[in-house]
Amino acid sequence: MEKTIQFSGETMALVNKIIARYPQGKHKSALLPLLHVAQSEFDGWLSTPVMDYVASILSIKPIEVYEVATFYSIFNTEPVGKCLIEVCRTSPCWLRGAEDIVSHLEKKLNLKDGETTADGKFTLKTVECLGSCGTAPMLQCGGDYHENLTEEKVDELVERWKNSDKRSSYLRSFE
Ligand code: FES
Repeated sequence: MEKTIQFSGETMALVNKIIARYPQGKHKSALLPLLHVAQSEFDGWLSTPVMDYVASILSIKPIEVYEVATFYSIFNTEPVGKCLIEVCRTSPCWLRGAEDIVSHLEKKLNLKDGETTADGKFTLKTVECLGSCGTAPMLQCGGDYHENLTEEKVDELVERWKNSDKRSSYLRSFE
């Protein structure tokens, strides 16, 4: 049976709060924060039914949602692991060893860039500059930045994430 796509009461209250920030007739402007909320609510990614649901809330065409969701790499249109690890690979991080950090994670998690572990726990992605170049190399997991990385720090983080049931999320920036 297909899962019903509907925000929980608590999330719907947040959605209404976000929409109310925009003037009447300009509610489409709430699309970006709503996609973050939807991604967080529905297992870390935006399926077509989820994007259609967001379109219906904002009374816009589904294509208007697809265009935005597929443009920004921060939105996942394929399933991702509970812990989405995004390692910056842009020049300042690269110069400070980002490639070694990625190789270390690939070996440790037994996957390649862009893949998810068989148990659905981890997805590894390389991304462009996350604006934390002064503390390179760095990665983000949801809204949390981890900076000045070394292989030892990465090992500690992976252990912590292994023992956590929480799904990574960017959501708190929109509350
Ligand atoms: Fe990595 Fe800017 S280059 S955060």
